[in-house]
Amino acid sequence: MPETWWRGAAIYQVYLRSFADGNGDGIGDLAGLRARLPYLAELGINAIWLNPWYPSPMADGGYDVADYRDIEPVFGTLAEAEKFIAEAHDANIRIIIDVVPNHGSDQQEWFRQALAAGPGSPERGRFWFRPGDGDGPPNDWQSIFGGPAWTQVPDGEWYLHLFAPEQPDFNWNNPEVVEEFHDVLRFWFDRGVDGIRIDSAALLIKDPDAEPDGLDPYTDRDGVHDVYRAWRQVADEYGERILIGEVWLPDQERLARYMRPDEMHTAFNFAFLGCPWEPVALRKVIEDTMLTHAPVGAPPTWVLSNHDVTRPVTRYGRPDTSFDHGDRKFGMPSDHALGVRRARAAALLAAALPGSLYVYQGEELGLDEVEDLPDELRQDPIWTRSGHTDPGRDGCRVPLPWSGDEPPYGYSTGTPWLPQPARWAGLTAQAQDGDPASMLTLYRDALRLRAELLGDGDLTWLELGQDVLAFTRESGLICVVNLGADPVRLPPHESVLLASNPLAEDGTLPSDTAVWLR
Ligand code: NOJ
Ligand code: CA
Repeated sequence: MPETWWRGAAIYQVYLRSFADGNGDGIGDLAGLRARLPYLAELGINAIWLNPWYPSPMADGGYDVADYRDIEPVFGTLAEAEKFIAEAHDANIRIIIDVVPNHGSDQQEWFRQALAAGPGSPERGRFWFRPGDGDGPPNDWQSIFGGPAWTQVPDGEWYLHLFAPEQPDFNWNNPEVVEEFHDVLRFWFDRGVDGIRIDSAALLIKDPDAEPDGLDPYTDRDGVHDVYRAWRQVADEYGERILIGEVWLPDQERLARYMRPDEMHTAFNFAFLGCPWEPVALRKVIEDTMLTHAPVGAPPTWVLSNHDVTRPVTRYGRPDTSFDHGDRKFGMPSDHALGVRRARAAALLAAALPGSLYVYQGEELGLDEVEDLPDELRQDPIWTRSGHTDPGRDGCRVPLPWSGDEPPYGYSTGTPWLPQPARWAGLTAQAQDGDPASMLTLYRDALRLRAELLGDGDLTWLELGQDVLAFTRESGLICVVNLGADPVRLPPHESVLLASNPLAEDGTLPSDTAVWLR
């Protein structure tokens, strides 16, 4: 491991609601997570990132925060969260929590006060309240979840919400908002949290009154960087506490600006996540990532999935293997065996690259997207806001299968909040444990070797043809990925450390297979 743990860390994302249920109500919680810490320690991860765990009406899976300084009662208590942080630290696992600064919940105290205080009040000045334009909203901004970005309140004013109406946007021009979040950061750093994942980080600065200037009116405005410079100062008061940006920007150079030395430490690499399983495109994303991160001194990150995107096994089995929020490709047929094969190869590719690595819960079990959920159980606001045209993200949030032959697979003693498919019987952690061919074993082996030989640093490309991604790392490890149809002859090596699928009898690397060589 490099001196600064986060530069080369393997970070496991826990979607608490779906990880493990400790009290039988069908919803994952801190008790369930604490009981499974040994599983995560054995997996070989360095940190856990938890999605929002705060009190919330759950209009958007907890990204509608009602109180930034407490724990959702369904998940546990603040005292339990503190115990969990201590236990994780004892197991040498760092804790990263999710802070949601762009918007709160409409049930949050400040928003209730704003509604009660009325037009023109300082309480409304913490949000974006405006009179309408005639009978309609103040402008034509659309919500990212579909429909208008403005909702009218009984006294006639409208408020801005870039996401659901239950998620009013804060006004970051207001110094009280700035101060409030500095205080929230300190609250959690004081409780031992090692890092913050910053939700919707590029959206904070906006000006709904400005004349259109040709720029995006609320994404990646230059002023947003002042917010993170100040956050960095707060983090630095505590020694090494890290800031990780959720910044969706197609332009890698714009993205890198968020990781300048006095801003965030790292940001998710969504260009890599969205990239099709295609050698030229992947090589370009990897090269661009390395090139844009180097000047700001930030380690790259490698992300294959999270709670917002289609599971890799499903994505990579489709005729179109790219991912884009605007086009989820829901229902597009997917060849499961092919998807698994590629997801295994992708895992070895991502884990071999320099920088930090994210693993979203269930990725290590090879779970596929659950597209056949009953409509009436769908919870994602995208489903309703899109007028039932986009089923949304519930399919990657189905509770984990832990053990046994049928649902709820040891996840709960009650009924899981979303039903698990019968086809997951062979994918439980228990069923995969010790099976040399399982996805779980592949992830365990990869993370163990990665901790010894990889992490942050540089890479040197090897040219083995257009269909092949091949590079060496300083430790001497060689990673070769064959994305073409034909078998590939391996470069000279001493031994095979790990392969995503067996090599051919003649020692060549089959299609859609990755190998680590020494
Ligand atoms: C990004 C989060 O990952 C997503 O789940 C959420 O819906 C939006 N931000 C809004 O907070
Ligand atoms: Ca529970």
